[in-house]
Amino acid sequence: MKSDISFKDRLPAHIAFIMDGNGRWAKKRMMPRNYGHRAGVAALKKLASDVFGLGIPYMTVYAFSTENKQRPKDEVDGLIKLLRDGMEELTEEIIAGGVRVCFIGDLSFFPSDVNEVLGRVERKSRDGKNGVLTIALNYGGRDEIARAAKSLAETGGPFDADSVGARLYTADLPDPDMIVRTGGEMRLSNFMLYQAAYSELFFVKTLWPDFGKKELLKLLKDYAGRNRRFGKVR
Ligand code: IPE
Ligand code: IPE
Ligand code: MG
Repeated sequence: MKSDISFKDRLPAHIAFIMDGNGRWAKKRMMPRNYGHRAGVAALKKLASDVFGLGIPYMTVYAFSTENKQRPKDEVDGLIKLLRDGMEELTEEIIAGGVRVCFIGDLSFFPSDVNEVLGRVERKSRDGKNGVLTIALNYGGRDEIARAAKSLAETGGPFDADSVGARLYTADLPDPDMIVRTGGEMRLSNFMLYQAAYSELFFVKTLWPDFGKKELLKLLKDYAGRNRRFGKVR
């Protein structure tokens, strides 16, 4: 698998996805939005196996934002149900492949039975050494930074950028090298505002349930050709 691509020595260490477009995917099929979210989970399952199969060690996905709570109740309820009933199925193979699964965001929003499922998945995969899949749920970049600021104020500093970074949900992850947003919108929608400082950004029109390995490889090739300068001269 690793050997069939020419740019394998220039793969990102961390790739993050803003999984957008499930609702429009369902609408095109004259189906309810939650049908699109179920298709989105299936796409995620396949893609995670492709990403880790390529040897990329960190993958993060934005699944539910702090603002998504304001959607109609039946959609939010459907998403919560999907977490409760679909998360173990989604992660089973990934965990069997030795990948650790972590959840970030304000999980206190979710009912206790959902938290039990999430806790179980984290515990089951705790010793995974082949990669880390991070799933952002009720996550907001501003909320994350505000929490870090509060924690710093409580401990009395030091008030520098590294100390902020060390108090984010992602303290144990490298910054994402690539952020890919599907669905055609060109914005971050409150995702990884601090961590995205030098991420390479990719926006594709494909709706999330239709996104797969072929397009991933195209983006990875594009990434391999980019000149990342981090503010310096190269
Ligand atoms: C992304 O798809 C998934 C979530 C935000 C939960 P959307 O539900 O935003 O789909 P569109 O953008 O309306 O098509
Ligand atoms: C971003 O998509 C959030 C997720 C993919 C989880 P949204 O659909 O919520 O973003 P906006 O409203 O188009 O900015
Ligand atoms: Mg959307």
